[in-house]
Amino acid sequence: MMNLSKFARYPLTFGPTPIEHLPRLSEALGGDVEIYAKRDDCNSGLAFGGNKLRKLEYIVPDAIASGADTLVSIGGVQSNHTRMVAAVAAKIGMKCRLVQEKWVPHYDAVYDRVGNILLTRLMGADSRLVDDGFDIGIRKSWEDALEDVRSKGGKPYAIPAGASVHKYGGLGYVGFAEEVRAQEKELGFKFDYIVVCVVTGSTQGGMIVGFAADNRADRVIGIDASGTLEQTRAQVRQIVDNTAELVELGRPVRDDEIVINPDYAYPAYGVPSEETNEAIRLAARTEAMITDPVYEGKSMQGLIDLTRKGFFPKGSRVLYAHLGGAPAINGYSYYYREG
Ligand SMILES: Cc1ncc(COP(=O)(O)O)c(C=O)c1O
Repeated sequence: MMNLSKFARYPLTFGPTPIEHLPRLSEALGGDVEIYAKRDDCNSGLAFGGNKLRKLEYIVPDAIASGADTLVSIGGVQSNHTRMVAAVAAKIGMKCRLVQEKWVPHYDAVYDRVGNILLTRLMGADSRLVDDGFDIGIRKSWEDALEDVRSKGGKPYAIPAGASVHKYGGLGYVGFAEEVRAQEKELGFKFDYIVVCVVTGSTQGGMIVGFAADNRADRVIGIDASGTLEQTRAQVRQIVDNTAELVELGRPVRDDEIVINPDYAYPAYGVPSEETNEAIRLAARTEAMITDPVYEGKSMQGLIDLTRKGFFPKGSRVLYAHLGGAPAINGYSYYYREG
């Protein structure tokens, strides 16, 4: 059996996140499937929380042990991840240097002033905007930022985009699976499917390893929001293999246990389709559950469409992993000017 407890964990979250039944959304989708949400968007008091904090809980002990004084990371202009790295740096008393790239072809007037980047600046991070486009891999601008910190006498600790290809990036969401198993015991039933947004890969990658322990990794339905499916899939594969070895899963994870649906990422990363916006409105109007146009709105769109299409057999219980990200919606105000 897997071993997660051997890894040091620095608490950044409130503890296990609630599982909430969504009866009005279930009903609006026909009532054949019961929909629940695991509220990782409400997981912490640090700058609105979100999935990155689960990952960073396993990375911070390594950062502290390294003797670093500056966390260095990268993301888009409205990156949730860089907001979370800025929050963690403030909380543990380190400096923070961020590279924020033009990942998104979106031009709301205040896009680079509100939401995530506003919070990031408020927490004192040194955030620099650069012109490079979307790519989930290792970037030159990031290497340059590390060198810049070193050249000024600082000691950087590097956290890649989404904390994903970091060696410990997948551990947090192995913990998510363990948490769900414990909650299922209390609830007295098991979830048939888990729906989760995927971009840089360590959220779904960690879950796959965690749920492989009771042979239901293929019930974790990744909804791609990157629009670069092959790269995301390859990165999930790599994270799954690395994480499975770390936690001693004891068997390789098969390719067919990695399920990623590419159908909802259009028109591009960071740009919502009209169907994404309809999904955001439906979750807001039935459950007051706020999702964003970059990530959770797309996985919500996937959940809604798959439910309507009958992908989940009648009577299924589906757990939507809400990973956070609501602050970014402020950068998209024009879409929602009439609700
Ligand atoms: C709110 C939100 N949802 C989903 C994701 C996707 O998670 P991952 O990058 O681990 O695939 C991210 C980050 O990229 C995010 O910030």
